[in-house]
Amino acid sequence: MTETVEIFEMGPRDGLQNEKGNISTAQKVALVDLLSDAGFRRIEVGSFVSPKWVPQMADSDEVFSGITRRPNISYGALTPNLKGYVRAVEADASEIAIFGSASEGFSKANLNMSIAESLEKFAPIMEKARHIDMPVRGYVSCVTDCPFDGPTSPDKVAEIAAELFAMGCYEVSLGDTLGQGTPDSISKMLIAVLKEIPAHRLAGHYHDTAGRALDNIDASLALGLRVFDAAVGGLGGCPYAPGAAGNVATEEVAAHVERLGYSTGLDMTVVNRAAEMARGMRSA
Ligand code: HMG
Ligand code: MG
Repeated sequence: MTETVEIFEMGPRDGLQNEKGNISTAQKVALVDLLSDAGFRRIEVGSFVSPKWVPQMADSDEVFSGITRRPNISYGALTPNLKGYVRAVEADASEIAIFGSASEGFSKANLNMSIAESLEKFAPIMEKARHIDMPVRGYVSCVTDCPFDGPTSPDKVAEIAAELFAMGCYEVSLGDTLGQGTPDSISKMLIAVLKEIPAHRLAGHYHDTAGRALDNIDASLALGLRVFDAAVGGLGGCPYAPGAAGNVATEEVAAHVERLGYSTGLDMTVVNRAAEMARGMRSA
């Protein structure tokens, strides 16, 4: 039987959050609706964060109410605090994500909090989500390198990932936010994290700044990971990670892993149309 690799589509969130152009709500809805036809099981639709911090995601509430949902697709959103959680519940997000960092410099830049303060903010979100059976994913950013603090220790990544997992995150996504990881640094980081969390509860989230994301995916596959985050058209980046380019492109990851013999369940004709639509938004 063919082994499966799942791509968690990030385009509408990680992809569009960093685009400078004026992207309308209708364009975002059209992108999510097209992606819903592609065979993804999970799509990150937006962020319920401060609109002052990330103006591009200010209309995530409207995007959620505008999309046509498929029953078998989970439509996710980022929630940094209880205010974001309440907005996500009101928007009827299928799942939410809390997002921490393995480096203090990035935690401060991205969330205006220390790592410890961010974990304190996440605890009541987890508590409330548990009561309504809302699945929560966790992210750890800067898993190999931080734009402010330099190289990240694998043990620190393992510590934060384990905290998020122990808090109840069903999966922890490991973010090479800067896109400077190498197969060697990614492997060292994963070996540390795998002492705390089994491979089937981990995902790789690799930005492609240095063009090594596919190599980093290969290193992760070798260590048992089978879920990867990617954005159609390779859009985006993080506004609080200076110099970081977009997520690795979904269409490249899908083609790559299919060449290696894995099945993604994606309709590549639709994925490529969505990539074209996404690239059109970049130049808007
Ligand atoms: P703060 O300024 O310290 O927060 O920001 P605050 O609590 O003092 O609130 C400031 C204002 O924001 C207030 O409004 C709040 O009401 C409002 P005012 O009184 O000034 O009018 N506010 C909100 N509004 C709507 N929704 C909310 C919300 N929260 C506060 N949820 C805060 C702290 C966490 C809010 C801010 O730092 C923030 O929003 N950060 C998010 C940054 C972000 O979204 N970054 C990109 C996503 S992370 C990423 O891309 C990495 C990832 O892809 C993985 C990887 O690649 O590594 C996941
Ligand atoms: Mg990211």
